Amino acid sequence: MEVVIVDDAAQAGRLGADVIVAQLANEPRSIIGLATGSSPLPIYEVLVERFDAGHVTFADAEFFLLDEYLGLAPDHPSYAGSIRTAFCRHVDVQDQYIHAPNGVAADPTKEAARYDQAIRDAGGIDVQILGLGTDGHVGFNEPGSSLGSRTRPKTLTDQTRRDNARFFDAASDVPHHVITQGVGTILEAGHLLLVAFGQAKATAVAAAVEGPVTAMCPASALQLHPHVTVLVDRFAASELALSRYYLETYASKPAWQAL
Ligand code: GLP
Repeated sequence: MEVVIVDDAAQAGRLGADVIVAQLANEPRSIIGLATGSSPLPIYEVLVERFDAGHVTFADAEFFLLDEYLGLAPDHPSYAGSIRTAFCRHVDVQDQYIHAPNGVAADPTKEAARYDQAIRDAGGIDVQILGLGTDGHVGFNEPGSSLGSRTRPKTLTDQTRRDNARFFDAASDVPHHVITQGVGTILEAGHLLLVAFGQAKATAVAAAVEGPVTAMCPASALQLHPHVTVLVDRFAASELALSRYYLETYASKPAWQAL
């Protein structure tokens, strides 16, 4: 894992966007995994700026979302809807190349299996953006998730429902169930880009990066992946034992070594 302690969210946005722009420059038909929540937004903002400046095109790229709520009312902005608002509608992404689990599928288990297979059939995700739950979840893989899990329906913890209540009119509107890529599915992506900001994420960041690999912190499974970049601000990094080492490592990073 490479841990980069950034000055602010804007710097994380630039670094995250650099990774995706470089990936697309190298392979325009790359498959990018998009995540919802507030943490990836700075990356999307910079990607839109770079698109506007003519530095990147998404015309041949394909996109898979990480997760989706189950059973949201049609007028409520689903995760697929929020990604369109934050990113897709501002760039030249082709609509048929944006994939998300269907949150109103009649059979969510079948839908999840279909989605998992669709990722494999597309050739697998090249770069996957990830946020982090305060309880250590990635996607919606809550504590106790199998570290080998595939895309499937999951039940949210009360903590996650409380954390995500800010996106809903009332806390009771937050769905109890979701479809999420599994931990095993996520670990098959080529490069994982985990983004977390703020003191509320500090314990989860430390558990994910330096704690034992355990189903109690599903994000800790990222330690088993050969190419992970963790972009955190100093608040989210505040419980990391090796923070000084990460700062020194990044400050002395050779120019030939990309993230
Ligand atoms: C939700 C999403 C996760 C995301 C998490 C953190 O639970 N399913 O993918 O990582 O929120 O969200 P935020 O970045 O808004 O803190």
